[in-house]
Amino acid sequence: MSEVFVVSGPAEAGEYVAEILARAITTNPETVLGLATGSTPLPIYAALAEKVRTEGIDVSRVSGFALDEYVGIDPAHDQSYHHVIDAEVTQTLGLNPERVHVPSGNPETLESAGTAYEDAIRAAGGVDWQILGIGANGHIGFNEPGSPLDSLTRRVPLTEQTREDNARFFETIDEVPRHAITQGVGTILRAGHLFLLAFGAHKADAVARAINGPISPEIPASAIQSHPHVTVLLDAAAAAGLAPADYTVVEGVVSAV
Ligand code: F6R
Repeated sequence: MSEVFVVSGPAEAGEYVAEILARAITTNPETVLGLATGSTPLPIYAALAEKVRTEGIDVSRVSGFALDEYVGIDPAHDQSYHHVIDAEVTQTLGLNPERVHVPSGNPETLESAGTAYEDAIRAAGGVDWQILGIGANGHIGFNEPGSPLDSLTRRVPLTEQTREDNARFFETIDEVPRHAITQGVGTILRAGHLFLLAFGAHKADAVARAINGPISPEIPASAIQSHPHVTVLLDAAAAAGLAPADYTVVEGVVSAV
């Protein structure tokens, strides 16, 4: 694992990652982004959109691959990841919708959807920069505890904890789907560089186990320890389970890039 930074909050973390991505896209207009949903990455997308606008960065050939999607949710539902990625990423950044991919949660085609998604990632040349959040139970993507570390894109059951955590996005918990299709841990590890972001005390235990615990399917995020290029960005609350020697406190983050 490469580096663990503690920053003052989500806005600084978003600015830091957005600056790296803006430079990457300028250097390689065909950059392939790995996209997470949930609350954590939103400051990245907002900061990158601002840079695209103000710096006139050409994103017409950038591709994106979402990590996951609920099974059995209408893609038009406002909590489907098709919808969220379209609203928060494709439209915000002005990407070409044909280059932005979300795995299909259609229950009738799930068997082939995983392979089709792996093939699409491979055809695009692989993900260059993967953005990750982390679940309070240590999941990445929707790879819940127990997920094989070499797993690929597939249908998975969601734990009750994840359904409860995500119930805030739905009217009632009964509406939260029970299954998802997710890139596997093995799929995620193939990306060129991983950014894992976490904010808040409720993530501290998962973060500590991901960074310092044994590499184990019980904490799927611990697999990042085996990747050669990882940047972890935390606020102080999410870093509370780490020793000061485990991280670098960064102020004025963008100048540190
Ligand atoms: C989302 C995803 C999940 C989230 C994680 C944290 O595509 O794959 O692993 O990153 O559940 O969610 P938030 O950011 O809402 O705390």
